[in-house]
Amino acid sequence: MMTAFRTLDQADVKGKRVLVRVDLNVPMENGRVTDATRIERVLPTIREISDKGGKVILLAHFGRPKGRDPKESLKPVAEAVSQHLGKTVAFADDCIGEAAANAVSSLKDGEVLLLENTRFHAGEEKNDPDFVKELAKLGDIYVNDAFSAAHRAHASTEGLARVLPGYAGRTMQAELDALTKGLEAPKRPVVAIVGGAKVSSKIDLLENLVTKVDALVIGGGMANTFVHATGLNVGKSLAEKDLAATAMRIIEKAREANCAIILPVDGVCAYEFKAGAHNHTYGIDAIPEDQMILDVGSQSVERINAAINDAATLVWNGPLGAFEIPPFDQGTVAAARHAAQRTKDGKLVSVAGGGDTVAALNHAGVTENFSYVSTAGGAFLEWLEGKALPGVEALRA
Ligand code: 3PG
Ligand code: MG
Repeated sequence: MMTAFRTLDQADVKGKRVLVRVDLNVPMENGRVTDATRIERVLPTIREISDKGGKVILLAHFGRPKGRDPKESLKPVAEAVSQHLGKTVAFADDCIGEAAANAVSSLKDGEVLLLENTRFHAGEEKNDPDFVKELAKLGDIYVNDAFSAAHRAHASTEGLARVLPGYAGRTMQAELDALTKGLEAPKRPVVAIVGGAKVSSKIDLLENLVTKVDALVIGGGMANTFVHATGLNVGKSLAEKDLAATAMRIIEKAREANCAIILPVDGVCAYEFKAGAHNHTYGIDAIPEDQMILDVGSQSVERINAAINDAATLVWNGPLGAFEIPPFDQGTVAAARHAAQRTKDGKLVSVAGGGDTVAALNHAGVTENFSYVSTAGGAFLEWLEGKALPGVEALRA
């Protein structure tokens, strides 16, 4: 699956109305944006189109409203985008109809406008052709810069690319390049680190990865399910014991595909799930009945780091322990810093993604040192599952 997308290099935007789908689904508290990463990511595309004399019309969703809901308005986000961009961003109260049309027609070349939440209309999530037509009236060209929403086949992420000339924005382009280097056409050996709480949410992902990577490190709560499945006692640890057969199937599939599975060999244990809880590290075959594993132990970290040393490419999704409550962040932080150092030394291509993963890498202070960190949650997971993303496929056509 190589790129073959039209990018902004092929787009003639001067004097054109350019509908740009961005992901502005940013965390907000009391009307203020608390993490502007997604805003920062789309600035290059906005600036480029604006500098080339295009009229930038931003389309985005926010939250999961059922119909129009002032609590899910993008208006405060328009102000935040404007601040980060250093340029006025106009706002229209609706993404179709008269309000939108008027706002668009008053745009001069190079100016920027954000339209209200596309999900205020049911046609968005239904990818309703009539709604697509209403949106399409507002633009001459369509640019999708929202990889993180590309797993949705919605009007603004998929439908529009079918009716207007479509191009990948710079962030979409960077994301697709990074993902190609990570898994589609990686430099081998490839190691994947998958963590997080539950196997149940990542079965498809694990099954796909074992056929693609040379080694798979399993950490976090989901490792307990595997440890339990192999017949060991995990005490009071979080584990999905009903998924033992699934875990064994994944292990078997890995064996057939020649993928090494690396499970923890020790665990940092405590009596309770609490920051600063009194803790002790035990071998994985000696986890006490009345304690729970909250992080991988130092011997496991050594094994993981050794696997990273053997790899040319690393794909990472999910923390190795309960990183949000110190000191159970240590395993994740140590492995993340090691991967960052290998990347800095030019020895490793490192691609990471997923909500918790970004938070964990930020916490470890290494986000800048990874080759690529995706802000996508669901879209990154579906990509790891080997699924085609509708928003990406529509751009290929
Ligand atoms: C996200 O925040 O993951 C994307 O913006 C997609 O949002 P959704 O999960 O509500 O479709
Ligand atoms: Mg989501």
